[in-house]
Amino acid sequence: MTGPTTRTATPAGGMQDGTVQRIVVQGRSLAMQLCVLLKTAKIHDVGNVAFHGPLVNFIETVEQLFTAEREFKLQAVGDFLYINHSRLKLDGSSYASYQYLIDEFRTRGLSGFAFTGKVSPPEVKKFVRLFLDVDCKSSDPYEDFGAALGKLSVEHLVPLRTIVPQSGTINIEEVRDSRKAAKRTFYRAIEATKMLMLSARDRRPVDLRKTKRAVQSIVDLILNEEFSLVGLTAIKNHDEYTFQHCVNVSILSISLGQRLGLSKKMLGELGVAAILHDLGKATIPGWVLNKPGKLTAEEWKLMTDHPVQGVKMISKLRGLNELALRAMIVAFEHHLNIDGSGYPKLGDHLRMSLFSRIVAIADCFDAMTAHRSYRKSPFTPYEALHHMLVANREKFDGLLIKAFVNTVGMYPAGTVVLLDTNEIGIVTEHNAHDIFRPKVKIVADRDRKRVDGSIVDLSHREEGSDTYTVGIVSALNPEEYGINVADALT
Ligand SMILES: [Fe+2]
Ligand SMILES: [Fe+2]
Repeated sequence: MTGPTTRTATPAGGMQDGTVQRIVVQGRSLAMQLCVLLKTAKIHDVGNVAFHGPLVNFIETVEQLFTAEREFKLQAVGDFLYINHSRLKLDGSSYASYQYLIDEFRTRGLSGFAFTGKVSPPEVKKFVRLFLDVDCKSSDPYEDFGAALGKLSVEHLVPLRTIVPQSGTINIEEVRDSRKAAKRTFYRAIEATKMLMLSARDRRPVDLRKTKRAVQSIVDLILNEEFSLVGLTAIKNHDEYTFQHCVNVSILSISLGQRLGLSKKMLGELGVAAILHDLGKATIPGWVLNKPGKLTAEEWKLMTDHPVQGVKMISKLRGLNELALRAMIVAFEHHLNIDGSGYPKLGDHLRMSLFSRIVAIADCFDAMTAHRSYRKSPFTPYEALHHMLVANREKFDGLLIKAFVNTVGMYPAGTVVLLDTNEIGIVTEHNAHDIFRPKVKIVADRDRKRVDGSIVDLSHREEGSDTYTVGIVSALNPEEYGINVADALT
């Protein structure tokens, strides 16, 4: 790649320090504010009073960044925004704004801008006007825009030409489109879940319509193209994990339900019930949820009460109707375990419903593979699956767990693997016809040098031969090798 590197400012990348963190926070503000500025200017003239507030905010942020960094760049590479070399982390609330900017940049042949100094209100106004006036259908909008800025002496906002990501053996455009749709759905669902849980926590009326719509999009995507959404569940965003967990569990549950042959309607109901499975956790204080050490008896009681609290909260939701019962059952039963070893303690009087058994598997898999405050490092997806298949097999429905392995593969998306070529790769998706031989993106070559390699299908055999071209030797711990799974999967 010729522009920013794929260095990211997440703790998983191991590069987070105070400075990077601050730049990323300010970069996020800058991107959000630029988005507001452009959107406002599309409705009102830049001289309008409505433009004033966003203008002041934008100028202030540019000033802060310039003071700290001197010259800096805001750029789109692939589907991400970077501030200098730090990637701006996506979450539910920033996704739409980032995507808007990336699209606006792309149609003008721009990757973004270099900020070479502090900016004044007249300069920003001229810049915004010219940006919106660019003829995107011209043969070189980037050139036209640059020339127009020069004429009006806009000096401190310098347009940068589009960076074309390196292509491997895959069609970048096609992959980008399907990933874009999957990511949009994914982040919208996280946002809807966040609103839902926060409203429930604050005892405000909760409307389920957005959640239902989000689940419907997930079902549609999974029915059409099963794997790219499952791949996204492997990226755990630390800040929003509580909400993302609910969406991940929904995606994994729907995928498993699809493999079991459930109807589209049933998949929709399963998806909503799965999103709501931990709603009762909205009543537990954050410090208990994220406590690094062992919980006291009292804290544990609070924690294990979330299934019952969930039932109570769901019973108060508006717009749930016929779904309510199923969702309440799932919220109540998802920690019971098949052998009754979980909670609430009911003896052996109750048999878990099909939905609860599905959600319990998806829930455990997602929780085991996430960074949690009380665990030093998460299980790799491969380890989590093994744990569930061997050590914990009594707790889950045996048939369903086998179907789950067939859904996510023996090496689920996000697993880092050593290949028999001595290269290292990250599983991007599994092959339904061979669960031991997924598709893998190469991230380190034979000499362990970091590469942005191609995607290799491990189920591929040489023509006319019975032997496979490449195979997996073992699953690796990404942290030991300093590999950032999110970078490879997005
Ligand atoms: Fe739970
Ligand atoms: Fe959960």
